[in-house]
Amino acid sequence: MFEPSSPQDRIPLAEEQQGSVYYQEVETAFPPKGLFYIESYGCAMNFNDSEIVASVLAETGYQPTRDLDLADLILINTCSIREKAEETVRKRLQAFKKLKRKNRGLLVGVLGCMAERLKAKFLEEEKLVDLVVGPDAYRDLPRLIERADDGEKGLNVYLSREETYADINPLRLDQNGVTSFISIMRGCDNMCSFCVVPFTRGRERSRDPFTILAEAQDLYAKGYREATLLGQNVDSYHWENPETGDKVNFAQLLEMVAGVHPGLRVRFSTSHPKDITNEVLETIAQHKNICDYIHLPVQSGSSRVLEMMNRTYDADWYKERIDAIRRIIPNCAISSDIIAGFCSETEEDHQETLNMMQYAHYTMSYMFTYSERPGTLAARKYPDDVPEEVKKRRLEEIISFQAELSSAHNLLDIGKTYEVLIEGDSKRDDQEFKGRNTHNKVVIFPKVAGLRSGDYARVLITSATSATLRGHIVRPD
Ligand code: SAH
Ligand code: SF4
Ligand code: F3S
Repeated sequence: MFEPSSPQDRIPLAEEQQGSVYYQEVETAFPPKGLFYIESYGCAMNFNDSEIVASVLAETGYQPTRDLDLADLILINTCSIREKAEETVRKRLQAFKKLKRKNRGLLVGVLGCMAERLKAKFLEEEKLVDLVVGPDAYRDLPRLIERADDGEKGLNVYLSREETYADINPLRLDQNGVTSFISIMRGCDNMCSFCVVPFTRGRERSRDPFTILAEAQDLYAKGYREATLLGQNVDSYHWENPETGDKVNFAQLLEMVAGVHPGLRVRFSTSHPKDITNEVLETIAQHKNICDYIHLPVQSGSSRVLEMMNRTYDADWYKERIDAIRRIIPNCAISSDIIAGFCSETEEDHQETLNMMQYAHYTMSYMFTYSERPGTLAARKYPDDVPEEVKKRRLEEIISFQAELSSAHNLLDIGKTYEVLIEGDSKRDDQEFKGRNTHNKVVIFPKVAGLRSGDYARVLITSATSATLRGHIVRPD
């Protein structure tokens, strides 16, 4: 009933998305209870959560719509990671409020990390919001909606130690039908001093591996060819069977999912440098269908700043992990998250970040200026003392250096042949396909008859920019 539809770009875990809308054409086998419209911001986990929400609502007879004007219920799944992310959400709420003034019966709900951070304050600040629901309370949505229909404001921001939504099969909407996400854990027990996530997502907990496996099998059976395992710190995944005491760690979980089918590509995000083990690296090296790509956020190249960030590794530790990746998985692509202008950062610290980028030779990075978040360790302990224009200038230097590194990396790909999973048509030209290689690089190439989305093609790379590889299909050897 809810077959996936149009192609959509990959959602990077660290990126603030400009909002994505679920828009499935819905078969109305029965009169729906109502139509909901959901818009998501923040990381891939949040997008995946929206699919869990969609599933919970569909169970109770609500159906998704892409048309804001038709909706009886508008949900906005929010992000708090940086101030800008919250500003974007507030602007969007203004637009929804206008609709609400026209349609009194319309309900507006705020979900996700901002709901969790602001709790009841949200209902006070934004009078036209009817529901505020945190990331662990989505099962309660049907009840809250019913009460809101009777005019009662709904609030549930309870953070659970157990909830993993393990039994809920996410409603795959607004995807390309080829690549998908599977959440393997929730929350985060690290206390990086800049980060709001432990406050908005609660304690870390791992999901039952057999439900993860079942979800991967289901995806494959439905035609998906790539699964990205999601968690804030996937390397600390650990699950213990309460009856037998059997344990599963992340390396073992990767192996289980890779075993679903050789045609199912496996990716994962995000790894933490303090936790990524050689066992994980060896597992990647041993399985052709686990992609040679690791997102390993460094945040800063300065050991002094890393200490203040409470990342629990220093620059030498990080370099050793890069060396281990190079040794165990030759030609592995590595990407990063980098924060410019954290509290007290000097020009020397900044230079060390650039040096680290050089050392790790990232294929890609998500790069941000530091944004102080209320309640975090850094906000309480350290003054946000790097002037805004200095933060911006350092960020620009980081961005332009990353562009150089990405170009250099991509130029080295010219003349190589990669297996590319076709995700759909290229945005610019429907005579071309867009796909990705094992390194998570976008590859564009002319279509040939007989191939379609979800197929693998062998593509010889003939040209490259900092963002894209281009080439043409070659016959198998
Ligand atoms: N769990 C992941 C990151 C999740 S948040 C990890 O540990 O790597 C995604 C990225 O947002 C972080 O890696 C960091 O680079 C950035 N970020 C988090 N808090 C931030 C803040 N207060 N200001 C600027 N960037 C921030
Ligand atoms: Fe935030 Fe650190 Fe947890 Fe990542 S590991 S979510 S940066 S606290
Ligand atoms: Fe993700 Fe943003 Fe929350 S990055 S975990 S949606 S604060």
